Amino acid sequence: MLEEEALLVRSHPQARPRMADEVRLVHWWVSGGEAAALDVLKQNLAKEDLVFNDTPIAGGDKLKADLKAMIIGGDIPTAAVMSGYDTWNWAQQGVLADLSTLAAAEDWNSAVPAALQKFCKYNGKWIGVPVALHSINWLWINTAAAEKIGLDAPPASMDALFVALEQAKAAGLVPLAIGGQPWLMATLFDSVVVATNGLDFYKRAFVDLDDAALKSSDMIRAFQNLSRLSSYADPGYSRLNWNDATDMVITGGALLEISGDWAKAEYRSAKKKADVDYLCVRFPGTEDDVLFNADIIAMFDVEPDRQSAQTKLAKSIMDRAFQASFNDAKGAAPVRMDVPDATFDAFGKKALADVRAANSNGTLIGAMSHGYIQPTGIQQAYFDVVARVFRSEIRPEAAAETLAEAIAAVK
Ligand code: GAL
Repeated sequence: MLEEEALLVRSHPQARPRMADEVRLVHWWVSGGEAAALDVLKQNLAKEDLVFNDTPIAGGDKLKADLKAMIIGGDIPTAAVMSGYDTWNWAQQGVLADLSTLAAAEDWNSAVPAALQKFCKYNGKWIGVPVALHSINWLWINTAAAEKIGLDAPPASMDALFVALEQAKAAGLVPLAIGGQPWLMATLFDSVVVATNGLDFYKRAFVDLDDAALKSSDMIRAFQNLSRLSSYADPGYSRLNWNDATDMVITGGALLEISGDWAKAEYRSAKKKADVDYLCVRFPGTEDDVLFNADIIAMFDVEPDRQSAQTKLAKSIMDRAFQASFNDAKGAAPVRMDVPDATFDAFGKKALADVRAANSNGTLIGAMSHGYIQPTGIQQAYFDVVARVFRSEIRPEAAAETLAEAIAAVK
């Protein structure tokens, strides 16, 4: 949004009358499992006598476009869910609130991992509140389908994963469940890059944007693994959303998916039990790493009579008990490192332990696919090249050079 558009916003009267105790949240949590987690937030806000009006929008791209139209039209929500550098994109427009006084009073600086704080602050000011610390490098396997093909333990390497996928194909199952949007292929590729070449290579290629790493034979091998994985997707995958793919593993039509832990909310909604109906393990080769994708609730600079409701929203999100109940339902780890794991199920306990261990040994790192490594322009270039490899529109051998050039063009 241009500077003058931001100024326009301030000069226009509000597009609609506001109730002082109303909280208006724009979010993308539209699946069954996400709605169940959102209910936890709604119930918490009801206890604060806050009227909760949400605007659910399916998909990050559509949410960003609709949100921009709302802001330009002067229809300013209390807050909106964002990921990664998107918070900086909005902060640069001067339309986000400054939560620093509250953050200092509640000591958020010591509770939230530094790797995540970076995206909740802009120019040293808190501009958003993290709500869920998801991670993406998980492998989800249907146990009945695994039994059918004689798979008695989750694949512990890429080679073993390809063997299992081939067996599933021979048994008439959909080997790999995945949806058709580029962000899903990129989410998969993040894990494949680490599994193929290690976390240090992932950092050199995507954090440092090291040209040699981007163009290396190692990157080509990662793209070759991605291309090979794409051959095991359902022929109709391009029409699927992420939760359609998750449903295929839940029902046993597919052997496995590689998905962030937001998928857990769908398994729970379907009354599926971990280690009984499905297995969930770190993607082979990424066992010591946590590639995170946090949901951040960015707070907009609203009129004074709406600020107390906004402050109550921010405090409610960072409340330890809420962090435990919301994230147990959402499938994520709490965003604060001081939340006990007692009320989490076995999966939640593992997710939380992994985050804590990774945070202390330096392997808690952002997911490139979710805007936690590079700004939007580079993230989009990444999406484009990865999706073209997955769709066999470009050969893996050409993809490394293509990615390096696409990134250089927007850097
Ligand atoms: C992620 C988001 C999760 C979940 C997932 C599927 O980007 O962080 O909260 O919504 O998309 O929509």
